[in-house]
Amino acid sequence: IDFGHGVASGKIILMGEHSVVYGKPAIALPFKQAQISSKVFKTNDKITIDSFYHKGYLDDAPDTLYGIKQLIYIVLVYLKQPFHGIHIQIESSLPPQRGLGSSASVSIAIVRSLFDAFKVELSQERLNYFVDVAEQIHHVNPSGLDAITIAFGQAVFYQKDLGKTLIPLKMDAVIVVADTGKKGLTKEAVQEVKQLWTDNPTIVSPIMDRLEELTNEVRTYLETNEIIRLGLAMTEAHQLLRSIKVSDDLLEKLVEVSLLNGALGAKLTGGGKGGCMIALAQNEDQGIRIADALKNAGAVNTWLYDLKEIVL
Ligand code: MEV
Repeated sequence: IDFGHGVASGKIILMGEHSVVYGKPAIALPFKQAQISSKVFKTNDKITIDSFYHKGYLDDAPDTLYGIKQLIYIVLVYLKQPFHGIHIQIESSLPPQRGLGSSASVSIAIVRSLFDAFKVELSQERLNYFVDVAEQIHHVNPSGLDAITIAFGQAVFYQKDLGKTLIPLKMDAVIVVADTGKKGLTKEAVQEVKQLWTDNPTIVSPIMDRLEELTNEVRTYLETNEIIRLGLAMTEAHQLLRSIKVSDDLLEKLVEVSLLNGALGAKLTGGGKGGCMIALAQNEDQGIRIADALKNAGAVNTWLYDLKEIVL
C-alpha cells in the first residue's frame, strides 16, 4: 500500500508565453481537467519509479528524467531519508510535451507525495524552490510561470522578477483547449526565439513589447468581463507568436478553424511548435461546436475550460 500521495494539475498560458522568459508579464491558469498523481510505496530495494518514460531503478532513468531524478534525491536529502526503500508510481492524464506544464506538474506531484509520505509539512515557498530546481535542470532557463501556476492552483499574473499576483476571474466564457498531438519542443522554441531576437533586434523587440501591452490589457479584460476584447487580444498574440516562428501548420489550421467556427479569439498556448492551442467561446454550446470542428481538423483531443469556475 502507498503511504504518500500527491496530485498536481497542468497549466495553460492565456497570454505571454515566450515574452515571459524576458521579464514581460504573463497570465496562466491551472488546467485541472488533466492531472498527474504520484504515490509512494515502501520497498526493500533501491529507489524504483514507474512512469511514462521509465519503469525500474531511478538510477537507470533516461536523460529525459534527469531533472526528476535530481529532484527526488534533493527532496530525500532535505527529508533526511536514505536513497532506498521507496517506489514512486506516477499516473498521468496530462499529455507530456504539449505545452500544458507536465514537467512542472510531475515535479509538484512528486514533491507533495514525498512530503506526505514522511509527514513533513510543505510550504508553498519550499515547494516552489524544489520545483524551480527541477525546471532549471529540465528547461535550462525557465521563466518559472508553470511552477507558480500549478503550485498555487489559481489564475496568476506573473512577471519573472516581480513574482505573482493571483487574479480573480469572473469571466462569462469558455476556453476550448485542443491538442495537436504533436510534441511541443519548448526548449528548442525558446532557444530559437532567443537567436531570432539576437539576429533581428529591431523586429523582435517591438513584438515582445506588444505582447507585454496585450498581456496587461487582458488582465483588465479579465477583471471587467470584456470577452470580445479578450478574444481579439488572443488572436493578435497568436499572430505575434507566429511572426517569431513558434507556430506550425497544424496550429495555424486549428486557429483558423476556431475563428471560422465563431471563436472570439484563438492562439497557440505554451512553447508552441506543436503542442496545444486555445480558443475562446461565448458559452459551453459554442465551445462544444468549436471542439468538434477542431477534432475534424486534426486535433487529437479537446477539453472545455469554464472561466467562471476558477474561483479564488
Ligand atoms: C512554457 O510553458 C512557456 C514558455 O514561455 C517558456 C517559459 O515560460 O519558460 C515558452
